[in-house]
Amino acid sequence: MVVCGSLRKKSYNAALARALPALAPDGMAIKPAPAWDKFPVYNNDLEDSAGIPAEAVAWGDAIRSADGVVIVSPEYNWSIPGGLKNAIDWASRMKEVPFKGKPVALQSCARGPLGGARMQYHLRQSLTSIEAFLFGRPEIFVSFSANKFDANTLDLTDQPTIDIVKQQLAGFEKFIRRLNGKA
Ligand SMILES: Cc1cc2nc3c(=O)[nH]c(=O)nc-3n(C[C@H](O)[C@H](O)[C@H](O)COP(=O)(O)O)c2cc1C
Repeated sequence: MVVCGSLRKKSYNAALARALPALAPDGMAIKPAPAWDKFPVYNNDLEDSAGIPAEAVAWGDAIRSADGVVIVSPEYNWSIPGGLKNAIDWASRMKEVPFKGKPVALQSCARGPLGGARMQYHLRQSLTSIEAFLFGRPEIFVSFSANKFDANTLDLTDQPTIDIVKQQLAGFEKFIRRLNGKA
């Protein structure tokens, strides 16, 4: 399953997320997670009065039922985009926390030179707090992303990026097998 942290129509992160199924090893199917953009801003009072919104429950359920989750997200102001963090906060309130014990791999695209690295380390920390299992290396930081995708089609065209994404997904597949006792 893949979660994208950007809602922008011409998002590089969404473009990378769309490229993943073709770059995944045999036997690994990657499908998009349900949308998180309609979740209300987390409010403990709202949760107490109305419970967790149905859309957030559906998102959490989809994550729980996946063998593993790839999160592809931009960095906003050196950190996690608010909408994505809000989705994680809602999911963390579910009785069976969807990320608990879940293998998670991170990827980011950014227009700048750091490729979203600071966001990834915040996400790594936040997801560890809810007991996700974060994949280690290789890490995927698509810096200067405007140069790595076709300007019209948004297809991923940069061969070194294609190669390292393939390498990460192959490693992530093994990591999932080990964690799920199928190695
Ligand atoms: C609110 C906001 C904050 C941003 N902050 C950062 C940042 O901290 N680091 C960075 O590398 N790029 C930052 N950017 C630029 C993004 O890298 C760039 O907009 C990128 O294309 C967003 O990803 P997307 O194409 O998937 O939407 C920021 C963009 C926005 C809109």
